[in-house]
This record gives sequence, structure tokens and C-alpha cells, in this order.
Amino acid sequence: MSNRITKLFNIQYPIIQAGMIWNSGWRLASASSNAGILGLIGAGSMYPDVLREHIQKCKKATSKSFGVNVPMLYPNVEEIMNIIVEEGVKIVFTSAGNPKTWTSWLQERGITVVHVVSSVKFALKAQEAGVDAVVAEGFEAGGHNGRDETTTLTLIPMVKEQLSIPLIAAGGIATGKAMLATMILGADAVQVGSRFVASEESSAHQAFKQVVVDAKEGATQLTLKELAPVRLIKNKFFNDIQELYKSAPTPEQLKELLGRARAKRGMFEGDLEDGELEIGQIAGLIHDIKPVAELVNTIMTEFEDAKRYVGSL
Ligand SMILES: Cc1cc2nc3c(=O)[nH]c(=O)nc-3n(C[C@H](O)[C@H](O)[C@H](O)COP(=O)(O)O)c2cc1C
Repeated sequence: MSNRITKLFNIQYPIIQAGMIWNSGWRLASASSNAGILGLIGAGSMYPDVLREHIQKCKKATSKSFGVNVPMLYPNVEEIMNIIVEEGVKIVFTSAGNPKTWTSWLQERGITVVHVVSSVKFALKAQEAGVDAVVAEGFEAGGHNGRDETTTLTLIPMVKEQLSIPLIAAGGIATGKAMLATMILGADAVQVGSRFVASEESSAHQAFKQVVVDAKEGATQLTLKELAPVRLIKNKFFNDIQELYKSAPTPEQLKELLGRARAKRGMFEGDLEDGELEIGQIAGLIHDIKPVAELVNTIMTEFEDAKRYVGSL
């Protein structure tokens, strides 16, 4: 399969394995790239020296292209960008920040830049900043999210109507059917997060992977809108937030409850009660933990079957 995105990244299938804090280290990224899609290391949960180690291990584990996702609001961004350049990484996905800040600096150093957005307005800003492609992520996605609650089904055609650069759809995509649907709506490719959390190669704690497999429809909700909206499993920590909301808390009080390292505690260390468990609505459709290569094969088989189905309608 060949289109603007497969050519941009030199990959076999138009699928991106999403950058995800505490989930997407070198093991997941290299397995994804070796399976014919684009693997991303999630720098958001890594100290600079840890990121360097993951990049070096990824280079040893795959000869294919891979990239790094950098949430720009995290500390040490400058150091992280310098490491990316020093280590010869050729693709960067930026998120959570202004795309103007780093795009041309990275491109001048030979790096392809993609920016993640959750609205038409921010997609156009990213295009204006000169990025090579945009990820438009709907409200159903796992992790941090937009404030406008625009779903993938509505966001993709609205972004497509105005954007001319390549468009990658994200949020709620775990099957080849959903991939085809978003491509019909105008996406050139898809970014898949939650499905790859429940993969053998993801660095999530086994207990968190099992929570994803056990999750049913309605198991997640967007919360902490006053800080940075995030979709979480409704566990004890989520209920503690809801309890605090009853007293009309200030953002400072919410911050205090959130504290530090909650996401690490939940997703990486497996504290299912007091940890932050980020996952998308599509967890309700994820029933097993599989190797990435098998997941990619399944998605592509479903995609081809869905194309035939559409042809038969
Ligand atoms: C556990 C988890 C952690 C995430 N961390 C990040 C991150 O560090 N940076 C980022 O840009 N997006 C992050 N996301 C969002 C993903 O990159 C991706 O866009 C999203 O998962 C797509 O929606 P889906 O989960 O429905 O597949 C995260 C998502 C999950 C589930």
C-alpha cells in the first residue's frame, strides 16, 4: 500500500504506533517498525539519558524508520530535542504545545515533524507552522485530550475539509474496519494507541494490560479538565477526583490531589487503585494481549475484508 504517509515515513502500512508515556519504549517501537508500521518512542515519561538509551536500543533492534513523540510541555524539552538530533532520529511527533516552537528547528536538521491536535483550529495552526503532517485526535482517545470533546468521526472530515497536508486520524481506532472508516472520511493514515497498550511489547505493567482487556464500554471518562483533560479508567483514584469535585476545588487543589508520578504508579508499576490509568474508550473492544506483529496483521486483514465489504454494498 502506498500513499502520502507511507512515502513520508517509508513504511509498508499507513499505521502509526502512538507515542504513549510509560507504554512505548524501544521494545514496542522497534517491534512496530519491524511489523511494517511506524513505531514511536514516547519521550514524555523519560529523563533525557533514559531516552538516549531507548533510541540506541531501538536502532539496534530495527533497521526500519522509527520516531520519537515529544509532549512539549514536559521539562527538559531542549535537552530531549538535542539528543534526538545527536542520535540521528529522523521523525518527531510533537504534542501538547505550540508547533511553532520546534518545527523549523527540527526540519533544518533534516527531521520530519508531525504535530498532534484535537481541533480544526489547531490543525490549521500546525499547518501554518510548517509541519509535514498532522495527527487529529478525537475525544475518545486515551491519554490527554482536547477540551472541545470533538469525536474522531466528526473531527476528521472537518479537518480534512480545510487541511491540505497529510492527515493522520487518532482516537478509537483499534481495528481495520475503523481504519478504513477514518480513511474514507479523509485520513491518509491512522495512529493507534490503546490497542498497542495491550501488546506483549508494551512496557505497561501486566496488571494494567489486564485492566484494559477487562474494560467494558463506559469504563473510562475524561476528567481534570481544569488542568489538562485526560481520559482515565474509573478506579479509586478517579473516584477520589470525583469526590473532590463535589467541593468545587481550585486547580491548585486538583493539582495537589494529582500529586507526582501518578501515571507511572498506575500504568508502569501496576497500582490499580491509586495510580492514573490512561486508556481510550476503545478499550471495551480490546479482549487480548498479543504480539505487535500479530495485531498489525489482524488490522490489515480486517482492513482488506472491510474494503471488500464496502465494495459489496
Ligand atoms: C497510555 C497512554 C499514554 C499516552 N501518552 C501520550 C503521550 O505521551 N504523548 C502523546 O502525544 N499522546 C499520548 N497518548 C495519546 C496517543 O498518542 C494516541 O493519540 C491515542 O492513544 C489514540 O487514541 P486510542 O487510544 O483510542 O487509540 C497516550 C495514550 C495512551 C492510551
